[in-house]
Amino acid sequence: MSEFAEIILDGKSYQLPVVEGTENEKAVDISALRAQSGYVTLDSGYKNTGATTSAITFLDGEQGILHYRGYPIEQLAEKSNFIEVAYLLIYGSLPTQQELNDFSNKIRLHTLVNEDMRKILDGFPSTAHPMGILSALISSLTAFYPESLNPNQTKEEVDLSIIRLMAKLPTIAAWSYKNSIGHPVNYPKNKLDYCSNFLHMMFAYPTEEYELNPVVVDALNKLLILHADHEQNCSTSTVRLVGSANASLYSSVSAGISALWGPLHGGANQAVIEMLEAIKADGGDSKKFIAKAKDKDDPFRLMGFGHRVYKNFDPRARIIKKAADEVLTALGINDPVLDIAKELEEAALNDPYFVERKLYPNVDFYSGIIYRALGIPTDMFTVMFALGRLPGWIAQWKEMRENKEPIGRPRQIYTGATKRDYVAVENR
Ligand code: SDX
Repeated sequence: MSEFAEIILDGKSYQLPVVEGTENEKAVDISALRAQSGYVTLDSGYKNTGATTSAITFLDGEQGILHYRGYPIEQLAEKSNFIEVAYLLIYGSLPTQQELNDFSNKIRLHTLVNEDMRKILDGFPSTAHPMGILSALISSLTAFYPESLNPNQTKEEVDLSIIRLMAKLPTIAAWSYKNSIGHPVNYPKNKLDYCSNFLHMMFAYPTEEYELNPVVVDALNKLLILHADHEQNCSTSTVRLVGSANASLYSSVSAGISALWGPLHGGANQAVIEMLEAIKADGGDSKKFIAKAKDKDDPFRLMGFGHRVYKNFDPRARIIKKAADEVLTALGINDPVLDIAKELEEAALNDPYFVERKLYPNVDFYSGIIYRALGIPTDMFTVMFALGRLPGWIAQWKEMRENKEPIGRPRQIYTGATKRDYVAVENR
């Protein structure tokens, strides 16, 4: 028996269908509400509103569950690799060995960028934040590949845009870092795998051989898997909204990068390390900062804590916390901010303010500690988040297009001045 919701407005009863997903999530479909009743719904920040149906990622915030195409994140983090997970998210199934080889090899053959891109890069001051550079250069791909602007691209043309984006973002990201420290850029090496190639481009010098550390490569693979998708978060919703206007994949992802840059979203991983460093510089008294986070009159927030959806532990935070311990031990690093992070976590998890509000460490709380151990500079942390989230953005844009979803255009309730006549300036 199909369920429905009854809503009574101005004494009239309306029945709205209920939609149920494969994981038993339920929603009231209000798509006919305005036509039937003249009413719209209001939900600032979309805390209760589903924008779409999707078959890519399932998360349960109360249970702390995260699945990519049905596969638990814990298994993928343990057994898979980032390129395989990217294929899974984008194409919907785990690839055969042949499919994986083809996908990897195609990406390898597109890692170079047009040399004119270096002129754009050189135009940025060395003080430019790499997220601003990344968003600009990804958008500039529309200039080098104008055919990507065609909204009626064939499947093969879309697949080529996907390969180009997966292949070139790491090169652009590494080059923006080298640009910021005034060092010569490194060209990609096709014999290296995806993560090794990125590390090579980030840290090699033309003057000496770069030694890849397998602990670092493995940690990076795991971090990118953990960031690969997260259903309708702020930046992914941005990618879908921009793409719904038939904007190209490159323009849509460029917009997603800008959304991710916000400190309340992907920018939190940089903000967490800056917060931990500030606590350390202030004498390391975590209780003082917990009090600040609880003080309504103090704008300070415990960065890396809280989540719109997870009202339990973020499953990614659990995995990253364990990996942080392993990586620092393997690399023989003793990072005092890790101790401060653990003290903060312990104090917050036992403090009623955080417990009542279900504020737990999220994916950003520990990731910065690993990035730092891997030698990634702080202002590149959010670029690392974008590197990981890229396949998710691509998969969500592709799904939205394949489902022929309408252009996104929310309604509003107007609260401004009612109709009034123009007054000439001399009479004001
Ligand atoms: C990511 O959506 C995703 O999936 C995102 C992401 C992904 O993978 O794409 O998971 C990645 O963005 C993780 C979140 C990273 N951001 C941070 O760590 C920044 C710090 N956290 C927050 O600002 C906040 O928790 C949000 C933005 C993450 C969630 O905000 P909500 O859901 O809008 O909740 P809220 O701001 O309304 O907070 C509810 C209450 C408020 O107190 P009251 O008004 O009820 O008294 O909790 C308080 C807030 O003041 N609160 C915090 C807090 N986070 C929320 N108080 C202190 N420190 C914090 N970190």
